[in-house]
Amino acid sequence: MKTILHGRDFITTMDWDKDELDTLFETSYELKKQFAMGVPHKYLDAKTVFMMFFEQSTRTRNSIEAGITQLGGHAHDLTPDKMQLSHGESAKDTAMVLSRFGHAIAIRNCFYGIGNKYLNDVAKYADIPVISMQDDVYHPLQVVADLMTLQEKRGKNLRGLNVTISWAYAESHAKPLSVPQSQILLFPRYGINITLAHPKEFPLMPEIVEKAKKLAEENGASFRITDDMNEAFRNADVVIPKNWGGFVVTQDPDEMKANLRKHKDWICDERRMSLASKDVLYMHALPADRGREVVDSVIDGPHSIIYDEAENRLHTAKAVMLLTMGGRP
Ligand code: CP
Repeated sequence: MKTILHGRDFITTMDWDKDELDTLFETSYELKKQFAMGVPHKYLDAKTVFMMFFEQSTRTRNSIEAGITQLGGHAHDLTPDKMQLSHGESAKDTAMVLSRFGHAIAIRNCFYGIGNKYLNDVAKYADIPVISMQDDVYHPLQVVADLMTLQEKRGKNLRGLNVTISWAYAESHAKPLSVPQSQILLFPRYGINITLAHPKEFPLMPEIVEKAKKLAEENGASFRITDDMNEAFRNADVVIPKNWGGFVVTQDPDEMKANLRKHKDWICDERRMSLASKDVLYMHALPADRGREVVDSVIDGPHSIIYDEAENRLHTAKAVMLLTMGGRP
């Protein structure tokens, strides 16, 4: 390992260099093996992670909580209503106090224009690692699980793999931009070619797209954008169709809903899957809006790897905690 990861924040994969990310993947594989063999691995005995959730979660909450338990530590499951931040306590005071009590602060805050800023405010004052459990810009824990899953399915060398990241229609809620944004930033660093597809009303943040294009160029990968979902699926090796909100264009919920209603046909169905490579992989970070983002026969079908992808949330989350909360001091 080139760099000491003990004490480091994990707010975006962009802050970790490629060697550090590879260390994270190797640690994830090792922890997955130990978990499968039933080998105790209590490397974080009696350590505490404070989980602050401003929004709901199934995978992130339970992968962190089960993960820290398996590592011998404990998680506090916190929401704003349980904390004095509901009375306006500052990020600084929260960070300073929790730093005296435990070993990491994990935060999910996806409010558009607020979440990432809040995480960085806490990180500025915390003496312990701040781990993002998703904000309005990035979801690093999701994307490292995605990359690990791709390596398991298609080999460690992913250079030349054609991955389509597509917007899809949903009615459940306006999902954050952070999953596709994290994917377009991480995948090209591993030589993966990106096709990004979305209607014009649902772009990603322009500065993130520019960074992703630059990373693709630096790493010999291609990067293209289309507003045609069919074209985006053609010959893809992996498809990741998923909803995200139209926050970049408007933050008015009525206007966003009106824009959304124009694109009900952006669904991942059998016809579109047939445009992709014969052995295409279907991925989704979950939760999925079944029947709107994707039809059941695809998400439950032979190309779907969603449960392997979800399982890897556990192993990668444990690796992040182990390396940042434990590791080499
Ligand atoms: N993919 C993901 O982050 O799931 P949760 O919202 O359930 O944590």
